[in-house]
Amino acid sequence: MATAAIILAAGQGTRMKSSLPKVLHKVAGLPMLGHVIKALRGAGTERIVVVTAPAGEEVRAYAASLDCETAIQEQQFGTGHAAAAAHPALAGFFGTLVIAAGDSPLITAALVSDLLKAQQRTGLALVAFNAADPAAYGRVLMTPDGFLNRIVEFKDASEAESKITICNGGLYAADAQKFFRWVAGLKNQNAQGEYYLTDVPTIARTDGVKCALAFADEALVAGVNSRAELVAAENLMQQAIRRRFLDAGVAMNAPETAWFSHDTEIGADTVIEPNVVFGPGVTVAVGAVIRAFSHLEGAKVSAGAIIGPYARLRPGAEIGEGAHIGNFVEVKNTTIGAGAKANHLTYLGDAVVGAKANIGAGTITCNYDGFTKAKTEIGAGAFIGSDTALVAPVKVGAGAITAAGSVITQDVPADALAIARGTQTVKPGWAATFRASRGKK
Ligand code: UD1
Ligand code: MG
Repeated sequence: MATAAIILAAGQGTRMKSSLPKVLHKVAGLPMLGHVIKALRGAGTERIVVVTAPAGEEVRAYAASLDCETAIQEQQFGTGHAAAAAHPALAGFFGTLVIAAGDSPLITAALVSDLLKAQQRTGLALVAFNAADPAAYGRVLMTPDGFLNRIVEFKDASEAESKITICNGGLYAADAQKFFRWVAGLKNQNAQGEYYLTDVPTIARTDGVKCALAFADEALVAGVNSRAELVAAENLMQQAIRRRFLDAGVAMNAPETAWFSHDTEIGADTVIEPNVVFGPGVTVAVGAVIRAFSHLEGAKVSAGAIIGPYARLRPGAEIGEGAHIGNFVEVKNTTIGAGAKANHLTYLGDAVVGAKANIGAGTITCNYDGFTKAKTEIGAGAFIGSDTALVAPVKVGAGAITAAGSVITQDVPADALAIARGTQTVKPGWAATFRASRGKK
């Protein structure tokens, strides 16, 4: 059966108090809308229509970048009204429709698949969950035979109804053609004067279709309406990622302090020490060690490399097998050869470092003149003395040595020694004479 989806993303997200549209706020480094799209695609959804507000240009651009179609809900008259805005795009679609909210970033492909299975029982299904704190979620009232009776929005609930902890996860599946017919029959006589998507099952019942329920863990359906709920979603996502890495053989002694991105990849037997942060686009191979307080983004770390403590790998950092990047070392757009070492207080930008080269403490590539970036090439086995400034573009040949404190402005041939610093002058007794002239011993 063909599957399409609607993602509701036109709400103003006023409770976020942000100029950024709610669904573009990130969880584990990916906009919430991106997570929802990923889950729907993972469950085999071929077409996705994202419903946006007229001012939602940024949301439309993001959705289009992920090959989604977009629709505009002219005015924000509620979730049912928003779903109806996708009708023109899907009028000719015959198949099953999934309706998801753009502010539920924790849904997974497996959950969508469970929902689609439940939908096959009756033609309409909804994800429900047991909320620890039901707060403002819609309450799910069930029939004795385990189907949905109706959903009562928190603001419309009686005191007894608001005590119900089974809540609406905001994820639905229905036959597409019937769904749009039901949505067209929605009324807005409720506390918020809105067209509620949650009234669709009631209308379906008058059409002889019961609504089946797929139960999910709260950690998969938590909705984000405020900054505090965004933090809660981030924590749930981090817990899920940490668990996945532990199950895949990654070693962590304080997993609760490691922060990952949605796309982080880590091989088995790699050790992640406490307080390591992964931005987007990081791949770590097997058996590496990422020591405490390191920050990595857009970087590739090969097998057996040791990073940190307190290292910073920025986009384009490629660390070779068994290489060491130590404390207070920043690496950007630089390839570090196998077994090379930069252990202390160094900046390597726009550079290529050969295998087994040794980069002394305090080495700086001067790669930027305020206008353009220039490249530094360091050959295999070269020894860069402490506090060397490499003024790019410049090349240091294989096996060459630069003397400590040198400012290297010209290429150094292979196996040569380059010294570029003031010559030392020693004046015996000068200090004692100076002190005596100031009346001190
Ligand atoms: C909604 C459900 C509630 C459920 C909860 C799950 C309704 C009426 N209530 O409440 O039962 O427990 O989700 O998280 O459906 N949107 C539009 N246009 C609108 C209004 C909303 O596109 O006119 C979008 C929002 O951008 C959001 C989604 O629909 O992505 C849900 O809207 P929101 O206002 O967050 O509803 P909740 O109060 O969370
Ligand atoms: Mg919501």
